[in-house]
Amino acid sequence: MAAAPTLAFELPDTIAALPVRAFEFSGKAREEAEAIIARQQPDALFRRLLCDQESEAVLLVARRVIDAFLRPHAEAPSADGLPDDASADDIAAHVAQTRAGLAATIGSLSNIEPDTRDAVVRQRAPLGLLGGCWLDVLSQPATQPSVVVNRLYTQHFTQRGEGNPRRCLHYLRRRQMEGVDVYLPEIGAADFLSRAGARPLTTLHGSFYLALSRLPANFLPELVGVHYVFHALGVDDLLLGMAPMLPEPALRDVLVAYLELAGPAERRRLFTGIRLVLTLEGEHVAMLAELATWHQGLTLESKVAAIVARHAPFAGRHHQGVRVGERLLADTFSDPDLDLAKFLREFREARQLRRTRDGLSRFVKAFKFGGPMFGIFDEREAAVFKAWVESAQAGERPEIVISPNTVGDAQAAVWASAIAASAPADVVIADIGTPSDRELFYRLVNIENYANTLPLAKERAEKLFSDAEILFTHGAGGRYTDASYFDYSAAALYERAERVYWEKLVKPYQPLAEIPDRDEVVFLQTTYALGALVDATWIHRIANLGRFERQCDSALFSIYADEVGYGDLRKNHITLIHRALQSMDIRLPHIREAAFMDQGDLPDELYGFSLHQLCMALFPDTYYNEILGYNLAIEMFGLGELRLHEIQKLRHYGFDDCYEQAHLTIDNISAGHSRQAADIIVSYLDEVRRALGDAAVQQEWRRVWRGYASLAYFVEHALLKQVTTEEVPVDLVI
Ligand SMILES: [Fe+2]
Ligand SMILES: [Fe+2]
Repeated sequence: MAAAPTLAFELPDTIAALPVRAFEFSGKAREEAEAIIARQQPDALFRRLLCDQESEAVLLVARRVIDAFLRPHAEAPSADGLPDDASADDIAAHVAQTRAGLAATIGSLSNIEPDTRDAVVRQRAPLGLLGGCWLDVLSQPATQPSVVVNRLYTQHFTQRGEGNPRRCLHYLRRRQMEGVDVYLPEIGAADFLSRAGARPLTTLHGSFYLALSRLPANFLPELVGVHYVFHALGVDDLLLGMAPMLPEPALRDVLVAYLELAGPAERRRLFTGIRLVLTLEGEHVAMLAELATWHQGLTLESKVAAIVARHAPFAGRHHQGVRVGERLLADTFSDPDLDLAKFLREFREARQLRRTRDGLSRFVKAFKFGGPMFGIFDEREAAVFKAWVESAQAGERPEIVISPNTVGDAQAAVWASAIAASAPADVVIADIGTPSDRELFYRLVNIENYANTLPLAKERAEKLFSDAEILFTHGAGGRYTDASYFDYSAAALYERAERVYWEKLVKPYQPLAEIPDRDEVVFLQTTYALGALVDATWIHRIANLGRFERQCDSALFSIYADEVGYGDLRKNHITLIHRALQSMDIRLPHIREAAFMDQGDLPDELYGFSLHQLCMALFPDTYYNEILGYNLAIEMFGLGELRLHEIQKLRHYGFDDCYEQAHLTIDNISAGHSRQAADIIVSYLDEVRRALGDAAVQQEWRRVWRGYASLAYFVEHALLKQVTTEEVPVDLVI
């Protein structure tokens, strides 16, 4: 019967931190992480943390980066005016005071000359465009339905424009930047950092926030502090002249709510996060001011040198035969020890700069329309060159002193060496062996701590998707699904969905004439419960930073937001299933607890279904298509007969039917999640068609449909028994 009552989970979920656990990795991941960090390239680190949301190694990198940044602040004495027993109001006052100082510095950057202003805005862009990313996957099976996680989710939902990408914080910031002529590619684009001119200090700060976004559940206390301070300081709002999307009182409310739940250990960790961001933002604003000063003090020659340095690596063999001074340009530009001052001294004497009859020079004509270098330099670079050429032609021969851009480098070196030296004591190298389904479930729910389970999770997901293809041929005979394959067209997809709905889910419905006995009703509910406890998991990692630009991504984000009630616990599906279970007197530990491995209520045979859901969710890039198909299948699965019968039975015995009721309406096929799921597939394949053409659509579609079939593979037990000669494994039955 029920698990030991002391271990039973009770609503509300008042955790202030997950249980402190080690972080397990494989030996291979340790080597890979070491290699990533040893390369010592902040840009590469930033990009890896941003673009790779699936690998085990990147989670270890994240753990080390977090350690490097938090450790000095965890050990810092509270002599900064913020004692560990400070109230939310004390914290707010302290942060407001810091903000006033930063605002003064930022104010001094508002009326500087446009080129310098441009450099400052660009420099800040990587942080402004990733701010808030730490909430991307904070809501996950291990943390739902926590009170504080949902308070934060509400703010995440606001920052994400309530699901409308054109209203999301990052889009509005980008528009504001474009208003001052700063145009940057998307943050995930290969040339984003170089176009922003990001200094190592900027990318290292960014790497911390990205690292936190990879392990948010384990660093919830620190994250609450980071979230409050980053947004309450509002550096980006000050710099861009924007009203804050999350006003300080709303931010402070979350802080108050958190402090009510936090014990002494969590409070200490919260303050570590607070102190760290006060340091980081102070450091970054000081760096912006330093950048402005450096930029304004640049001589014309230094500006020219910076342009040459930027383009030299790409010059390749283009200048074959062209000499400046004694040397071929091809040799000069491929020289790793290029002496820019010497080169400019020779270049200003070179014949390429001499005034031609039209008042220009061979060099200037080369990059004008019709010249061999047309299009190489942007407008601003071309203007700098022209001014310099004119000064050289006028006989000006200033001493060439080049002041290289080393802004922020001293502090960047401190962080870089802290990352290189970090060796968190809670990192454990372990082999996972062959976990039982119960252990595997526990590991996947707590994936931040058991990243060494990722390869097995991927293997399982892949096997299931390919095994499910058997239903491409036999799926028409499904009781609740039709996974038989068809060539894609939007009309064909909608037709299939409608047909399954009416013929398989609605038409067979008759109210039950006889209600099974109480135990049987409870038992059937328990068979569904394991899936319900990880409701919406399959999409909880979709639409993260750098992946929120397509219509299909924002639509998936909106479905997930619905599933967690936009952070409103009364509408949160995980809350609803716990309520339903409690009404049947099924009292379980939370799925994040090790004690859940020993729960005695939910049958063993059912783990396969939830495991599949958890496995695919961890690979939102690799299995994007499959997730779209699975999403359609599972949203539809609950419609019609099955759920109506359950509601009838639950009501009969006076059990809480809130979970079933919510799904009956929210998943409906006319406008609810089922319809949205079909629209999402159509929208995605339309993106594919526009990017890669019609031929690619059918290939991508096949993978989408594998995802649909993989849900059918779990629910069509009778059909599978018929079509396979082998016995169907029991864990396929739900
Ligand atoms: Fe749901
Ligand atoms: Fe749903």
